[in-house]
This record gives sequence, C-alpha cells and structure tokens, in this order.
Amino acid sequence: SLVSTGELVARAVAGRRAVPAFNVITLEYAEAVTAGAEAAGSPVILQISENAVRFHGGRVEPLARAAAGVARTSRTDVALHLDHVTDVRLLHEAADAGFSSVMFDAGALPYADNLAATLAAARWAHGAGLWLEAELGYVGGKPGAPASAHAAGVRTDPDEAARFVADTGVDALAVAVGSSHAMTERSASLDHGLIERLRDAVPVPLVLHGSSGVGDDDLRAAVTAGVAKVNIGTALGIAFTRAVRDALQARPDTADPRHYLDRGRAAVAQTVRELCSVVAL
Ligand code: G3H
Ligand code: ZN
Repeated sequence: SLVSTGELVARAVAGRRAVPAFNVITLEYAEAVTAGAEAAGSPVILQISENAVRFHGGRVEPLARAAAGVARTSRTDVALHLDHVTDVRLLHEAADAGFSSVMFDAGALPYADNLAATLAAARWAHGAGLWLEAELGYVGGKPGAPASAHAAGVRTDPDEAARFVADTGVDALAVAVGSSHAMTERSASLDHGLIERLRDAVPVPLVLHGSSGVGDDDLRAAVTAGVAKVNIGTALGIAFTRAVRDALQARPDTADPRHYLDRGRAAVAQTVRELCSVVAL
C-alpha cells in the first residue's frame, strides 16, 4: 500500500534499520522495485529524480501517477519521494503529483546559500505537508549536477550539520561520508566513525546517497552506525542494461519490446531484493 516516507523512515529508525530508496525512471522500474521489495518482505521508497523528470520531457505527473498506482496495489508498504530537486518550481508540484516527500538539493552551493535555499524549501514543504530531506557536504558524482562550490566528496562536518538542521528544520539530512554518485563498482569506502559522530550530533535521520558504489558489508556497517535511508540508482541501471543486452543478443530478431523489458524488469527486481535484505532486514 501507499504510505508516507516520514512513516517508513521513522519505522526504520525505531528498528535500527534503514529503508531502501530506489530511483525509478520508467513504469517497469516501479514494478520491479516494488516486486523486489515484496519478495524481500521489506518496505521501500520509490524515488523519482529531477533528472528522471527531465527525461520525461519535464513532466512529473505521468511517471509519479504510474508509480503511485503500483504502490497502491503492492503487498508491501511503498512511499513516493521526489529526489534531487534543484528547481523550486518542481518542488511546488510535488504534493499535487502524489509525493509525500522531497529531497531539496542545494548541497553544491556555498553554506550560506544552501542554508537560505533549504530554509525556504523546508518552510514551503512543511506548509504543503511534505517531509523534506536536504544535503550538507557534497556527495558529488551526479550526472548533470550544477557547478559546485565544493570539491566533490567534501565530507559533512558534524557541528555544521547540527546547526544546519536546527536552522532549517529539515526532516532528514543527506551526508557526505565517502560515497559518490554513479559508481559502477562497489569500491567506495565509508567513514563509519564520521557517520556515528553525525548520528550523535544531528537530531534527524541520516541519508546515504550514491549507495550503488558501496559494498554489502560497508552498507550494513553504515546502517549500524546510523544511516536510516539508503539511496540506490545506478545499481539498477547496471542490472537492467545487462539483462536487456543479453535478451537482445539471445533473440536479435525480436520486434516485441516486452521480450527484453521483461528481462530487464526481472533483473532489477532481483537486485532490489538482494539490497533490501542487506539494508532493511
Ligand atoms: O539519490 C539517488 C542516489 O544517491 C543514487 O545514487 O545512482 O550512485 O546509487 P547511485
Ligand atoms: Zn543522490
């Protein structure tokens, strides 16, 4: 069933686990992520990024409605999150499009600008009943990311993070602790001591971005140290693309996209199932 992100994250915090959040770019992804989470017996967040909205011609509603439809008929609890929003016009469309939460991404800006933009976003979001995630530090590596005031990978400072959360009122904080977006190998090494210091300093749940680049053991340790939402995108693209390539090679004469979309969808579901069992259970 369709539930709110705030509820799933609160549940994860209470259970000392994390709720996995997977990036969805097509209807098949929404189906696959939900099926994988159902198979694992895990709740899940379907997140649609601003980049994915751009891919769909700047329209957020068609994919969001499709994902919500999948969520509503699911046998597990599924929430809908709008990810990496830099355009406030898109933030303002979130509630009407069916999202319960948004990540407002001003992490590339200098501190004072990030603070001002995030404060305004949080006020607006709370007025609209939305749960708001923001970023401090800079995870980096995101394709098409805005020019940054920071070197990619600059770590989040615990004292600054505590002040940032107090001054903005955000509901969760994405932190830079050693991961990077769009990694195609799981070779990132996380600073678990920093995650613990952030968990102790920051009164809201921590979010790990760029989790495709993080191995299972490091993911488990990050959850133990205090990460409550784990964002995964690229790993699904790898699984989907490999399966579609194999399917097309096995049947080069097919003219029915369902032959290879089905294989891609199954591969994504399997990847989701495995990752849910690492972070959520
Ligand atoms: O917000 C989305 C995540 O940070 C995805 O990162 O594609 O590197 O797994 P990833
Ligand atoms: Zn991210």
